[in-house]
Amino acid sequence: MSTAFKINGQQVSVNDAGDTPLLWVIRDTLGITGTKFGCGIGMCGACTVHVNGRAVRSCLTAVQDVAGAAITTIEGLNPRGEHPLQSAWIRHQVPQCGYCQSGQIMQAAALLKDIPKPTDADINEVMSGNLCRCMAYVRIKAAILDAAAVMRGKKP
Ligand code: FES
Ligand code: FES
Repeated sequence: MSTAFKINGQQVSVNDAGDTPLLWVIRDTLGITGTKFGCGIGMCGACTVHVNGRAVRSCLTAVQDVAGAAITTIEGLNPRGEHPLQSAWIRHQVPQCGYCQSGQIMQAAALLKDIPKPTDADINEVMSGNLCRCMAYVRIKAAILDAAAVMRGKKP
């Protein structure tokens, strides 16, 4: 059975079994590899993508459940890689090994859509499921606050 959906603005149809995790479809079937496999059980956040604008763990999402949906991965967040979060990430030199970072940015992008002016507590709560083995948490939070200010027009 095929499943059709949009990914990064492009309509696709895949023939994977309906219970195949969306993460494998994105990475292996479609060859879009910015989204990472960390734990496979919803505990690390490395696989975070947006489904209809909401952050979801693609390792726990069956492809059959995204039929007709619009999916965004890190590659589609901004066509030039210049989303305010991505620019703030560079300014703050956030990544260390980088493995968790696409998931961190996708989770943060969903956060800023819901809460344009997040507090430290908001960030701690929403980002708590995105683990970073390199402990970049302080820089991640600083970059989110910086991007939020840019997006609210409070910073150039
Ligand atoms: S790989 Fe999906 S939450 Fe860890
Ligand atoms: S930068 Fe290495 S796991 Fe987060």
